[in-house]
Amino acid sequence: MTDNRFPIVAVLGAGTMGAGIAQVCAQAGSRVVLQDITEEFVQKGLARIRDFLQKGVDKGKVTDAQRHEVLGRITTTTDRLAAGRAAQLVIEAVPEKLELKNGLFRELAAVVSADCVLASNTSSLSLAKVFAGVGGPGRCIGMHFFNPVPLMALLELVRTEATAPATIEAVTAYAAQLGKEPILVKDSPGFASSRLGVCLGLEAIRMVEAGVASAEDIDKAMVLGYGHPMGPLRLTDLVGLDVRLAIADYLRKELDHPGFAAPTLMRTMVAAGKLGKKVGQGFYRW
Ligand code: CAA
Repeated sequence: MTDNRFPIVAVLGAGTMGAGIAQVCAQAGSRVVLQDITEEFVQKGLARIRDFLQKGVDKGKVTDAQRHEVLGRITTTTDRLAAGRAAQLVIEAVPEKLELKNGLFRELAAVVSADCVLASNTSSLSLAKVFAGVGGPGRCIGMHFFNPVPLMALLELVRTEATAPATIEAVTAYAAQLGKEPILVKDSPGFASSRLGVCLGLEAIRMVEAGVASAEDIDKAMVLGYGHPMGPLRLTDLVGLDVRLAIADYLRKELDHPGFAAPTLMRTMVAAGKLGKKVGQGFYRW
């Protein structure tokens, strides 16, 4: 592909988000190195991409040749430093743990090329902290994707005080190549998307707790009354109650806002293992 600022992209973390990100980067013409800590995780990520592309073929949205081409651009590894060394853009999509992300970027910064862009897919953590002590802070930026990555149009770009205009420019151009619509947000807790989305989800849980209406009817209110594609409780199931609880606790602390206090019902459900779609039970049965 001509004019591709990022011919080789390393995606670190092959979970739901990492696999989706690897897929869209490969669809955009980049060669992608998908990395995770075990071969099993890497293969699961790859299987997810294969499945998604196959469904696309079944739906008539993707040709067999395109599927083949996209898969042909993706290689896998369990060696993240090797993945980073080869790339002009590294996108991190590992679990939402600050120390994990920060350690990973500090390590990578020492081995990647000087102009390699370092991006984090964190959905709410402070990027100043994610990139603290990382060499070359001008090349560091947030690239927050949405699930399911290949279908969701938004790409939330998050700039720190140190992010260089050239980095923003390069990543904005790449967003267009990915077929995504970028927004630019200042590094602040929960950015634009999670701060509002989590707030809505928590209030919906408080309403279930107070017996205002059933989960189905609260969701219906937002779908049919406000035109949301999916209600906040179904979406909480999809994202995972444990994931959302961790974000809520973080935002409660960082923003000092009572609206982010996690409802008791949420904590009880998480403690009981009702984590949503991934375990078959949340506000809905899956
Ligand atoms: N390959 C190619 N195209 C596909 C496909 C596939 N495997 N699967 C579906 N599509 C296409 C469909 O053909 C359809 O295309 P058209 O519009 O041209 O007909 C389109 O994608 C939509 O698919 P469906 O009609 O099957 O499904 P839908 O209408 O229910 O839409 C959805 C699916 C876009 C995911 C919709 O359900 C939605 O918007 N859900 C909300 C998702 C959301 O809010 N995500 C954010 C979560 S929060 C997050 O991610 C942030 C975080 O940090 C945790």
